[in-house]
Amino acid sequence: MQASTCFLVICLLLLSSFSSLSVALSLSEASFIARRQPSSLKKNVNLPDYFELKIELNITFPNPRLRKAYIALQAWKKAIRSDPLNITGNWEGLRVCDYNGVFCAPALDDPKQNVVAGIDLNHFDIVGYLPVELGLLTDIALFHVNSNRFSGIIPKSFSRLTLLHELDVSNNRLVGPFPEVVMSLPSLKYLDIRYNDFEGGLPPEVFEKDLDALFLNNNRFTSTIPETLGSSPASVVVIANNKLTGCIPSSIGKMGSTLNEFIFLNNSLSGCLPSEIGKLGNATVLDVGSNLFSGVLPRCFEGLSQVERLDVSHNLLTGFVPQGICKLPNLVNFTFSYNYFNGEAQACSPPKRKDIAMDDTSNCLPDRPKQKSPKICHPVVRKPVDCNKAMCGGSQSSSSLPKPPAQPSPSPKAHPPKDSTWDFS
Ligand SMILES: *[C@@H]1O[C@H](CO)[C@@H](O)[C@H](O)[C@H]1NC(C)=O
Ligand SMILES: *[C@@H]1O[C@H](CO)[C@@H](O)[C@H](O)[C@H]1NC(C)=O
Ligand SMILES: *[C@@H]1O[C@H](CO)[C@@H](O)[C@H](O)[C@H]1NC(C)=O
Ligand SMILES: *[C@@H]1O[C@H](CO)[C@@H](O)[C@H](O)[C@H]1NC(C)=O
Ligand SMILES: *[C@@H]1O[C@H](CO)[C@@H](O)[C@H](O)[C@H]1NC(C)=O
Repeated sequence: MQASTCFLVICLLLLSSFSSLSVALSLSEASFIARRQPSSLKKNVNLPDYFELKIELNITFPNPRLRKAYIALQAWKKAIRSDPLNITGNWEGLRVCDYNGVFCAPALDDPKQNVVAGIDLNHFDIVGYLPVELGLLTDIALFHVNSNRFSGIIPKSFSRLTLLHELDVSNNRLVGPFPEVVMSLPSLKYLDIRYNDFEGGLPPEVFEKDLDALFLNNNRFTSTIPETLGSSPASVVVIANNKLTGCIPSSIGKMGSTLNEFIFLNNSLSGCLPSEIGKLGNATVLDVGSNLFSGVLPRCFEGLSQVERLDVSHNLLTGFVPQGICKLPNLVNFTFSYNYFNGEAQACSPPKRKDIAMDDTSNCLPDRPKQKSPKICHPVVRKPVDCNKAMCGGSQSSSSLPKPPAQPSPSPKAHPPKDSTWDFS
């Protein structure tokens, strides 16, 4: 009895607060939308065609696209569990263009209609998920929600966002396999999904998309790097801090005219560094540190004429560090510490180059301070990997070469757990 009275009071309160807003959803409309929510978390459902037409809103909007945007944004508001900065506090009523974080502009195909053209909710620490209804925002070119706590998946319905140019969902709690839905976005140029919990393999198609920048770092991807890498026209490719294995495909050499930064830091990549990297004549940042690369530094790296920062540290590299690399015209920081190099050109010896930061610590360099002990060096230096013969030296596919080259088994000290090898001091 008491419970039902209480229920009634709450309903009345809800009713009165809804009716005080002339354009609020009716209760049945609200519950229709709300009933759909949990399904998008459980499985990757799509929006049925004409979904929005089934929602009866007794409200007149300036145009049907703003009506769809209203349905999408109200569904999203319901999918938000915490909004510490009260950003969505003003997501009420039909003036969606006045909502915080929502940007309107004339439609591309009809300048007389104002439509929702962008979402920018960066850095608001919002807790919630991305409801399937976001697929109704078909006019958006930008979707930026970085640094919040959105969990769940990116819904399949995002495939409707055919004008989407920039997708930034970085630094959230998104999960699941690589969000394949991004592959169906014809206008996408900037994809940033870093700092989430995506896992599994990198799909080969992602490097075939016409993207300018691709940030996949700090997830839990575990595959090899697809051979399609070299097809990517991106100027920035960051795949650092994943668990990728295998070699760097030699196709990377095809990226010479476009690639500016590539950061493969801290994975489990192995094999020899492909000499094709030397063809990246426009690259300014190249970081392959903290992997399991072996063999020598290819002399062709002398072709990296624009490189400013070069990091090959924390690998199993051997041999000689050639002068040509240390004298690259734009070099400002060359870090090759924590390897097994046993010789370096004079130009590479740190004190010689006050203008360039160089770090050669913890190698096997005779007459240099802070090197590995002969006992650790000897077994590695004695049996160098022949990169002409070794896996991934040439055209072999990395996927057929899952194992790193035969590595010596020095004392455990030589291969401390990765986490303890970060100290450069
Ligand atoms: C809202 O719907 C009711 C019937 O459900 C109708 O009588 C009324 O005219 C509608 N109002 C508007 C503004 O469309
Ligand atoms: C949140 O914002 C709305 C609209 O701006 C305002 O009415 C409401 O009082 C705010 N709530 C809190 C808790 O500040
Ligand atoms: C290296 O990557 C692993 C995940 O593969 C991560 O846990 C670790 O924090 C990363 N290390 C650094 C220094 O970022
Ligand atoms: C650098 O980029 C320019 C312009 O895209 C291109 O013409 C040039 O060939 C590139 N350099 C190399 C070494 O690929
Ligand atoms: C050089 O780069 C490494 C990382 O690659 C960084 O840890 C180091 O601080 C840099 N040195 C200088 C002097 O900027």
